[in-house]
Amino acid sequence: MRPQLVSLLLAFAASGAYGAALEVDLTSSSSIKSAAQLVSHNLMTYYVGNQSGNTPGILPGPPPAGPYYWWEAGAMWGTLVDYWHYTGDTTYNQLATDSLLFQANQPQDNYMPPNWTASLGNDDQGFWGMSAMLAAEVNFPNPPADQPQWLALAQGVFNTQATRWDLTSCNGGLHWQIPSTNGGYDYKNTIANGIFFNLGARLARYTGNSTYARWAEQSWNWTSGVGYIDDRWNVYDGGHQEHNCTDTNPAQWSANAAVILQGSAFMYSYTNGSDIWKTRLDGLLNRTIEVFFPDGIMVEVSCELKDRMQCNTDQHSFKGYMHRWLATITQVAPHTHDTIATVLKTSTKGAVSSCTDDGTCGFRWNTGSYDGDTANGPAGQEMSVLGALSSLLITFEPVQPPLTNFTGGTSQGNPNAGGDPNVIPAPAPLTSADRGGAGVLTALVLVATLVALAWMSGTWSEHGH
Ligand SMILES: *[C@@H]1O[C@H](CO)[C@@H](O)[C@H](O)[C@H]1NC(C)=O
Ligand SMILES: *[C@@H]1O[C@H](CO)[C@@H](O)[C@H](O)[C@H]1NC(C)=O
Ligand SMILES: *[C@@H]1O[C@H](CO)[C@@H](O)[C@H](O)[C@H]1NC(C)=O
Ligand SMILES: *[C@@H]1O[C@H](CO)[C@@H](O)[C@H](O)[C@H]1NC(C)=O
Ligand SMILES: *[C@@H]1O[C@H](CO)[C@@H](O)[C@H](O)[C@H]1NC(C)=O
Ligand SMILES: *[C@@H]1O[C@H](CO)[C@@H](O)[C@H](O)[C@H]1NC(C)=O
Ligand SMILES: *[C@@H]1O[C@H](CO)[C@@H](O)[C@H](O)[C@H]1NC(C)=O
Ligand SMILES: *[C@@H]1O[C@H](CO)[C@@H](O)[C@H](O)[C@H]1NC(C)=O
Repeated sequence: MRPQLVSLLLAFAASGAYGAALEVDLTSSSSIKSAAQLVSHNLMTYYVGNQSGNTPGILPGPPPAGPYYWWEAGAMWGTLVDYWHYTGDTTYNQLATDSLLFQANQPQDNYMPPNWTASLGNDDQGFWGMSAMLAAEVNFPNPPADQPQWLALAQGVFNTQATRWDLTSCNGGLHWQIPSTNGGYDYKNTIANGIFFNLGARLARYTGNSTYARWAEQSWNWTSGVGYIDDRWNVYDGGHQEHNCTDTNPAQWSANAAVILQGSAFMYSYTNGSDIWKTRLDGLLNRTIEVFFPDGIMVEVSCELKDRMQCNTDQHSFKGYMHRWLATITQVAPHTHDTIATVLKTSTKGAVSSCTDDGTCGFRWNTGSYDGDTANGPAGQEMSVLGALSSLLITFEPVQPPLTNFTGGTSQGNPNAGGDPNVIPAPAPLTSADRGGAGVLTALVLVATLVALAWMSGTWSEHGH
């Protein structure tokens, strides 16, 4: 008995600094739901936007006012939409609805509220758009009829981004930043183009409208054409227009891989299982698991180093997107189910081992205990473990796959959402030298904004530099 007692005491001493470990039985859906409820509650202690005097919809920030940039709350509401979808717990539905509507920038319905446009990236806007798209796909309770509807909000984001497709450099693509005067405008990166691709694929599947699919295909063609997706299915971060987008930043971020992987699964579904999208989906899935799930547990490999932590606040939220989007892939591309379920189980086991029994969770999932890492978050850490726990429920009772307008989705669209065309910046003239790579959609393409706005840099994706 003695050696055992000693190790028990040591274990207690080790965990004692932060309290006991969170106990979850990952073979029991009710145990997973209880743990998810605890973590959701812990997450929402960081949300104060509903208190008087604060701005609805956002997490405290942006720096220096608080740690979080505007986009992260958009991603958080998507996490809570999924939480409701998987568990049925409606506790945060009203907050999520109020927030997704408050930040929508009505009546343009494009997630470009004036408070944030000066520092806005296509990725920032896109994260809110993807949460609205998710709300449509899972029949999250529709907003009142006099408010913008989920599908229309996703269309509003997509439409504004389509007008920004820029053939004046690198043969196309979206810039990272929206205002041309922002630092990072010259960076044409994977997350901006990947979200546009992802939304296009999902809008195509939801509405059946092939225009969205053509845009998605064009975005895929461009992103892979410039080499941000290579022939071994690695997904890199981006490049600069002054280098014709050939100076590829080789950092691999899970959010880039996940957004393109999920978009590919929706294209696979939209095309009724085409060979070309199956090849892309399976190749990306295989490589994603190899890169981001060493030993079956997710690691944000570009910044979560063995001997030190370099991940910023944004990056502390990425693991949840990967887990949630992998879970959705099993529904729209069922042949991936067993591969994905296996890795979600092992990785969620790691995720849970990073938490204490009050639902406080860490960022390192492969050490077996809470890491005390509160410097960069902690809402991202909570969102990630909440996403992992909720989406693991796909391995239990059947979960309704993402709906479409033909299979019971009730969200109303507005193909013209996004705003009065007059608010979309006038196109710059194309020079003949730039026209080379124009795709089938040239006629629809407008070009970059010349709006003069102050230099501000508000997002994460170039931080690998
Ligand atoms: C804000 O939302 C939280 C749930 O996260 C709730 O506990 C709190 O009572 C709400 N506060 C107000 C002022 O409505
Ligand atoms: C914009 O900022 C003002 C001032 O802080 C605030 O009252 C308002 O609610 C904000 N609107 C949005 C959409 O964030
Ligand atoms: C969805 O289908 C309904 C009729 O079944 C139709 O009225 C509506 O326009 C469709 N919406 C979209 C976005 O295609
Ligand atoms: C994408 O590239 C393929 C292969 O080159 C081509 O057949 C297709 O037309 C392109 N699609 C678009 C929308 O540009
Ligand atoms: C820029 O790269 C594209 C391929 O992405 C290529 O077609 C084009 O010729 C290049 N332009 C210059 C000026 O090198
Ligand atoms: C998928 O199959 C359906 C039913 O046969 C058909 O209506 C639809 O056009 C197909 N979609 C594509 C993109 O081929
Ligand atoms: C990926 O594919 C390679 C080659 O087929 C295979 O050896 C490897 O096991 C696969 N990895 C995963 C994670 O499925
Ligand atoms: C498909 O979407 C495009 C872009 O919003 C729109 O212009 C077109 O009218 C839509 N087509 C149909 C058949 O609804």
